[in-house]
Amino acid sequence: MATNMMVYVLVTSSLMSTCHLLVAVAASLAILSSETASSTSAVGDPGMKRDGLRVAFEAWNFCNEVGTEAPSMGSPRAADCFHISSTSEGGGSGYSLNHKVTEADNRLGVGNSFPGLSRKALDDPDLYAAEKELYLGKLCQVIENATRWQFWMIMLKNGNYDTTSGLCPENGKKASPFPPGRFPCFGDGCMNQPILTHHPTSISWSGSGSESTNYSSDWVPVMQGGFNGTYDYVNSSGTGNISYFEVTWKKRVGVGSWEFNHKLRTSKFYPWLMLYLRADATKGFSGGYHYDTRGMLKTVPESPNFKVKLRLDVKKGGGSKSQFYLIDMGSCWKNNGKGCDGDVLTDVTRYSEMIINPETPAWCAPSALANCPPYHITPNNTKIHRNETAAFPYGAYHYYCAPGTAQHLEKPYSTCDPYSNPQAQELVQLLPHPVWADYGYPTQQGDGWVGDARTWDLDVGGLSSRLYFYQDPGTQPATRIWTSLDVGTEIFVSDKDEEAEWILSDFDVRIT
Ligand SMILES: *[C@@H]1O[C@H](CO)[C@@H](O)[C@H](O)[C@H]1NC(C)=O
Ligand SMILES: *[C@@H]1O[C@H](CO)[C@@H](O)[C@H](O)[C@H]1NC(C)=O
Ligand SMILES: *[C@@H]1O[C@H](CO)[C@@H](O)[C@H](O)[C@H]1NC(C)=O
Ligand SMILES: *[C@@H]1O[C@H](CO)[C@@H](O)[C@H](O)[C@H]1NC(C)=O
Ligand SMILES: *[C@@H]1O[C@H](CO)[C@@H](O)[C@H](O)[C@H]1NC(C)=O
Ligand SMILES: *[C@@H]1O[C@H](CO)[C@@H](O)[C@H](O)[C@H]1NC(C)=O
Ligand SMILES: *[C@@H]1O[C@H](CO)[C@@H](O)[C@H](O)[C@H]1NC(C)=O
Repeated sequence: MATNMMVYVLVTSSLMSTCHLLVAVAASLAILSSETASSTSAVGDPGMKRDGLRVAFEAWNFCNEVGTEAPSMGSPRAADCFHISSTSEGGGSGYSLNHKVTEADNRLGVGNSFPGLSRKALDDPDLYAAEKELYLGKLCQVIENATRWQFWMIMLKNGNYDTTSGLCPENGKKASPFPPGRFPCFGDGCMNQPILTHHPTSISWSGSGSESTNYSSDWVPVMQGGFNGTYDYVNSSGTGNISYFEVTWKKRVGVGSWEFNHKLRTSKFYPWLMLYLRADATKGFSGGYHYDTRGMLKTVPESPNFKVKLRLDVKKGGGSKSQFYLIDMGSCWKNNGKGCDGDVLTDVTRYSEMIINPETPAWCAPSALANCPPYHITPNNTKIHRNETAAFPYGAYHYYCAPGTAQHLEKPYSTCDPYSNPQAQELVQLLPHPVWADYGYPTQQGDGWVGDARTWDLDVGGLSSRLYFYQDPGTQPATRIWTSLDVGTEIFVSDKDEEAEWILSDFDVRIT
């Protein structure tokens, strides 16, 4: 802000001066504004351009915990972080990568100690994972001036819920087991953690070809790495397809953005899977967590003053049940508007998602008001109640559900799934529609979908300031800060195995 003000003053005074001076000031303005631009990014790695990558992996069960670790995999938290340096030996020049996280670190699991681990977490898989994330964060951390940041986070989640286990709380309250049927689960072990293989980033001078980028030249040093794996090892009949996830990353040294190529495939036993790349806050409770996290958002963006820029190329959609989130924003505040403090009984996770799969219908309709938020707010701040059938943009909302802990809901309403988060949650799910045009969001079904790769500049801050979220009557409106900004898909149960593939790059969050 202060810098902007200075630029303004400079320009104003130059207008009263000679033409020559104006040109000089215009040139310095260009320099100044590009500096201003880079200093207002909220992420540690604006546009994913930094050669020294910082990326981590986490896997969650249905209620965003671990439950039980997969055999010999350790706790499902891992990272790939390195420093790149150039070497000039034997006349040739080259690069070397100095990894900050070892494979031994990545395999740490319950029973293994590491610096900073608390006694109570040593044998508790849930607490252990949360503390391992902090430990990996410390290994990856980049300290720049007064700020610190850690990594992009790849999040994988298994939607199976064994309701006979009583493992997941109901709106944050410990719940009793109940008979199967409501959620997918093949039986014992359906909430398992995945087999994870890490391919540490390496560098080569002859990167393998890619359709979108010319890596064919032997002169271009390319860095590549990835994570992949499957859930299908507990109940594999030996036949049939297995679930699969893969995220690979690739970048030419000194050029452009990292490209994160994601693949996700569901299977008979794992029909509901989620895979996202997240920019989470570097501290505090990010969306869906109830413990301290590490991430990429060195500044937590606040509505309405931020934008999200990214490039998305969806190669395969993942079928009709794939709720592809062009952007998913997550936060947490209580129904009284106060910030979350880790008390799962009163904290409420808030999500809003723009779903770009054109096969996703609007469940919100004049005949299904319970699936709509009570009102829509236009860019000029006019509220349109959902019963104003001529004016309300029903097609702009896939589904709205209220927190299960809300006490003063306007009827009719539906409440969100009480089990799939550590605490109650609220969802505002959007669809491409002309009402979102002012924010640079997709306006038509099919925008940004398969065959329509785009670079988006989304006014997420502006839009999120004008979405309905529940609060108790008479309470101070919550400060809408967004501790997680994610891109990826959630493939819900369908009658066949589904596969999605997409490439994400150039991700940035700018404070405006
Ligand atoms: C850190 O501070 C120095 C000196 O003020 C500045 O030149 C540099 O751009 C800053 N780096 C970042 C990443 O903000
Ligand atoms: C494997 O799945 C089948 C249902 O397809 C189920 O009957 C069986 O109990 C499962 N086995 C295990 C070990 O969970
Ligand atoms: C790829 O790079 C090579 C070497 O620079 C060049 O000869 C070739 O024409 C390029 N191909 C494309 C499709 O740009
Ligand atoms: C992960 O990738 C490696 C190397 O490409 C491959 O050998 C392995 O089979 C993959 N994992 C799974 C579960 O498919
Ligand atoms: C707000 O915008 C709507 C159309 O989006 C328009 O119909 C309405 O008159 C505007 N209201 C004000 C107060 O400008
Ligand atoms: C629409 O909803 C508002 C708010 O609940 C209510 O005051 C109004 O009477 C309703 N109008 C109709 C036509 O149902
Ligand atoms: C298994 O995968 C193949 C190839 O992707 C697909 O044709 C087949 O339908 C899948 N099987 C099931 C049961 O979905």
